[in-house]
Amino acid sequence: MNNEEITILSIDTSCDDTSVAITRGQKVLANCVSSQIEMHKKTGGVVPINASRAHEIKLDPLIKFALSRAKISQKDLNAIAVTHGPGLAPALEVGIQKAKKLALNLHIPLIPVNHMSGHAYANWAQNSLGKNGILNKFKSDNILPSLVLLISGGHTEIVLMESDYSFKIVGETLDDACGECFDKVGRMMGLGYPAGPVIEKFAESGDENTYILPHPLRNSGDLNVSYSGLKTAAFRLIKSISEDTNSGRNSDGTKTTSPSGTEVFNLTKQQIQDFCASFQKAAIETILHKVEKAIDIYKPKTLLLGGGVVKNKDLRKSARNIAKSKHINFHYPAERLIMDNAAMIGISAYHKFILNKEILRTEEEIQELERSPGLRL
Ligand code: KG4
Ligand code: ZN
Repeated sequence: MNNEEITILSIDTSCDDTSVAITRGQKVLANCVSSQIEMHKKTGGVVPINASRAHEIKLDPLIKFALSRAKISQKDLNAIAVTHGPGLAPALEVGIQKAKKLALNLHIPLIPVNHMSGHAYANWAQNSLGKNGILNKFKSDNILPSLVLLISGGHTEIVLMESDYSFKIVGETLDDACGECFDKVGRMMGLGYPAGPVIEKFAESGDENTYILPHPLRNSGDLNVSYSGLKTAAFRLIKSISEDTNSGRNSDGTKTTSPSGTEVFNLTKQQIQDFCASFQKAAIETILHKVEKAIDIYKPKTLLLGGGVVKNKDLRKSARNIAKSKHINFHYPAERLIMDNAAMIGISAYHKFILNKEILRTEEEIQELERSPGLRL
């Protein structure tokens, strides 16, 4: 069979979104995501057991829906792909059990996929008309080696991709992930979950030069970063701005409250906007300073982005400027493929399939697949 015709049903249940996709070659025929965000908003974050229960309820209907969106039936599938890590153990388990059943019932191979490789391969995904992927923008021999910045709620990694499916982490966070830092700082300010998009919105109307925040490990001599230090500094700063603001009242006489109505810190709207802009600038510069260094060391042809924080427009703009100044290509995934989704898992599986890498074919191999919550690239 022609590689372009390989049709894969992929499943991602690594965290708080249940997702099923159908891909054919590198084309995304259907990419269905059912978000649990409303449920997790109530707990201020993801509770693993709640997430896995929701996956269990949603997975079967989502598989049906994805097949109908792609206008194919189960017998048209050539393989099943599933995220086996990294992620929340009980959540991963739901997707893996379903994927095993499908592969065994349909007598087709099962391809285990690393979620982070999916965020990287989202760059290769094309829409159903075969447009909008990295191969539509650059010639295939002008892409690799690439430097990939993977930046999400669980990970912050600078990865060297020398050839197809060869990943080497050359720098990473030593503690919190960048998205996690946005979420935790946002929670301190009562901005809800996830806070990344809310901070970005406030930052648009703020002055990023109002407050100075540190860049931990900036001069560490390696390519690692720390976001826990930034989080602590942000907390101290919010507290001190709040204490300086007179008697707990905003200048217009109101009090700053969280969306749930509880009082948080006494910051005026202007102070929140200026703080968000200053914090966002520090969070982005922290990682991009190391990305710039990595480009000087490894001299890649392309800078790629992947992971939920890529939603942030300032991050994209600054990364694009770096790539331009270093005279290398720049690409990030289509909007609907940036946050967690199964299509990126299908595209990553496609690359494994054509390289014949870790394809589980026998019943024994399929049954033996286990979740791997701490899986690394
Ligand atoms: O990749 P993703 O969907 O899930 C994980 O695998 O973690 O990333 C979610 C993360 C969250 O931490 C969220 O706050 C962050 O991406 N995020 C953003 C923005 N949109 C989402 N961070 C900063 N600015 C944004 N606009
Ligand atoms: Zn992710």
